[in-house]
Amino acid sequence: MAKVSMSVNGKPAEAEVEGRLLLSHFLRDNLGLTGTHIGCDTSQCGTCVVHVDGKVVKSCTMFAAEAEGKEVTTIEGMANPDGSLSKIQAAFQTHHGLQCGFCTPGMVMSTVALLKQNPDPSETEIRDYLEGNICRCTGYHNIVKAIQSAAAS
Ligand code: FES
Ligand code: FES
Repeated sequence: MAKVSMSVNGKPAEAEVEGRLLLSHFLRDNLGLTGTHIGCDTSQCGTCVVHVDGKVVKSCTMFAAEAEGKEVTTIEGMANPDGSLSKIQAAFQTHHGLQCGFCTPGMVMSTVALLKQNPDPSETEIRDYLEGNICRCTGYHNIVKAIQSAAAS
C-alpha cells in the first residue's frame, strides 16, 4: 500500500492504495465519482476519459499512484459553478448527443480538450479526434452536431 494525494476537481484527495489500483477505480471506488465510466478496462472505449494536468487521459491506462501530486478533472468537475450544465454538456442535451448516456462523460471530456486545442474543428477533425471514444448506441451523428454547436456558440 502507498499513500497517494492529488487534486480532484479542485479538491484535495488522499488515500492509501495498492500500487496496482487504476486511476479509474480510484475515482469511482475511493472517491465515489462514478461519472467516470468503465466500459472495457483495455483502453479502447474512452468512457473513462478524464483530464490529468489538463491532458486527456483514459483513466484505465494509469495507476492512481501515477497521479500523485497532479490535478485531475472528471465529468463531475465540468458543470458551471452554480451547478448548471456547461456549454458543451448543454449542447449534448439540446442536440440529443446521447442515447443511453454511457459514453457521454468520456465524450464530453474529450470534447472539452478538443475545443481547447481547436475551437473551430471541421466535421472530419471532430470525427478523427473522437476515434478513441466509442458509442455503443452509435449516436455519432448527433454527437458531432452537438460538438459543432458548442464550437459555434
Ligand atoms: S474503460 Fe478505459 S478506455 Fe474503456
Ligand atoms: S449514448 Fe449509449 S453508448 Fe453512447
